[in-house]
Amino acid sequence: MCGIVGYVGDERKTKSVLIEGIKRLEYRGYDSAGVALLEAETEEPVVIRKVGRVDNLSNACKKALKEGFHAVNGIAHTRWATHGRVTDENAHPHRSSDGKIILAHNGVIENYESIRKFLTTKRYTFSSETDTEVLANLIAYHYQKEPESENGLSRFAKSVRKTFNHVEGTYGVAVICTDYPDRLVGARKGSPLILGVGKDECLLASDVSAVIANTNNVVYLNDGELVEITKDGYHISNWDYTQIEPVIHTVDWDIEDAEKSGFDHYMLKEIFEQPKSLENAMRGRFSEDASTAKFGGLNIDVSQLRQMDRILLLACGTAWHAALVIEYLIEKYARIPVEVEYASEFRYRNAPLDKNTLVGVISQSGETLDTLEALREAKRKGYHTMAITNGVGSSIARECHGGIYQHAGPEIGVASTKAFTSQVLIGAMFALYLARLRDMSYGEGKSIVAELKKVPDLVHQSLSEAEKIKEIAKRYSQYPDFLFLGRQSLFPIALEGALKLKEISYIHAEGYPAAEMKHGPIALVCEDCPSVFIVESDEIQNKVVANMQEVKARGGKVICIQSEDCTIPDGLADEVITLPKVHSMIAPLLATIPMQLLSYHIAIERDCDVDKPRNLAKSVTVE
Ligand code: AGP
Ligand code: GLU
Repeated sequence: MCGIVGYVGDERKTKSVLIEGIKRLEYRGYDSAGVALLEAETEEPVVIRKVGRVDNLSNACKKALKEGFHAVNGIAHTRWATHGRVTDENAHPHRSSDGKIILAHNGVIENYESIRKFLTTKRYTFSSETDTEVLANLIAYHYQKEPESENGLSRFAKSVRKTFNHVEGTYGVAVICTDYPDRLVGARKGSPLILGVGKDECLLASDVSAVIANTNNVVYLNDGELVEITKDGYHISNWDYTQIEPVIHTVDWDIEDAEKSGFDHYMLKEIFEQPKSLENAMRGRFSEDASTAKFGGLNIDVSQLRQMDRILLLACGTAWHAALVIEYLIEKYARIPVEVEYASEFRYRNAPLDKNTLVGVISQSGETLDTLEALREAKRKGYHTMAITNGVGSSIARECHGGIYQHAGPEIGVASTKAFTSQVLIGAMFALYLARLRDMSYGEGKSIVAELKKVPDLVHQSLSEAEKIKEIAKRYSQYPDFLFLGRQSLFPIALEGALKLKEISYIHAEGYPAAEMKHGPIALVCEDCPSVFIVESDEIQNKVVANMQEVKARGGKVICIQSEDCTIPDGLADEVITLPKVHSMIAPLLATIPMQLLSYHIAIERDCDVDKPRNLAKSVTVE
């Protein structure tokens, strides 16, 4: 949640790099935004904070700052409030009451009340309701006590380090000290922070998209690390002040990947990017004889993997739905029992697990704190862990024993689309891999690989229904409630369809296994509550048809997403969206495409801000 950017470099660029940077991070949190700049000539700070989107802040900056305003350094923030209302005063950056320290923070300071009490006795004052403000004052407190440094870290950096010895909670911070106009200090624990290393400039940011316009050389900071940046370089150290040799990564995507490229919204662009993201998920991942999948980074021996007799998958939100699909696929094809749990519940439940359990986490961002903490708990208990993540260099990617990168490219739309389908595809490939290590024959493996390779084309074909779905969306956009129903591996797709609609159109929607409808949700069915059925031509098709009849009998509308060879009685469905008939391993993935388009177009009809739905944030880095 929330985005941070810090910049030291060309003073003519500081303001625009910061505003552009937080604009790119706006998907992480967007209730208010702010910027602090040290003016080039006077080295005096200017802090501007505004409720609302980054555009509001940008307009406020245009009004407040003269043409040709240059800044030696600066930090910016886009907020997702945890403590304190959404007001200008609570927006970041926050400044210490002695004026020396200015700071932007991502995370939650759990012991902020006791720190606040302590600082009040030391005559520091507070002007916001946030937990964050204590950090600015505590750094200022340590700063005034700290002697000037002879070598190594500056007095400024040391005071930041000392502060975090007393702080409980999570943080990624970018800090200015007015006595050190040539530098910024960043530190992290639990919230992401990266360093961008450009030519005569350095940046701090919550993720790569904010620095990619300036550089694709980045260092992913680890928990407990502190970095001091100037335009000429940087110095990274850990808790005991030991200097760390950084690993510089080259980001393999560019600014265009992070832009809308002519689409009205990121979400739509990302929906249409799926043929490409799915192709990327498969690239180089089939054996030479094309009879199984292969993965480079699992870091587990085949013999060890064969001994695993249980898999536990942990995730949140949409990634949790992907885990549910993967559960069906692994159980069906590899015959290994799989359990799926919300990461946030697992962490505190102390679940009894068999010693031969493989623990997998799934996370688009690789930064979701609930998932990260669940991963840590599984590791503490000694389990072998793996991750499916799109976040290259993310905390989860670095902390798991091994894993599979999605290579889906940046996902900016808050509602996850292409990341979900690539997780499901990777899950299918993993199920194939496990199945081939057990009972699946060479021939079956080969035919599944051939089917999987068709996925990008099949998705492309399904996207051609977009216009038709847009028309359906127009007819249904004003209904207050929806049911989404599917069976077996299509049940998680019903859940995902309901979540997508809720997230971006604010319509109440619930997903159920179709047969469960009669055990309760059927009470919702009426002419104002349409039901979206997802159905395949399999052995339970007729049961689902019976559920449709039950809806029709109660005056409910039926929208049916069906494979082309389904035999649904004429006139039963009010709307029909047809998908190609595919292998059952691929069916859930394909059925997702019309769900995404339906929720997108309904949200557009309702004038909703699909890329930045209310109250949500893309990357949830608080518990
Ligand atoms: C997706 O549409 C959601 N915004 C949300 O449920 C998301 O999937 C969840 O927060 C998990 O995120 P992650 O995949 O980055 O861990
Ligand atoms: N806890 C801080 C606040 O509420 C930071 C929230 C964020 O990460 O945006 O202001």
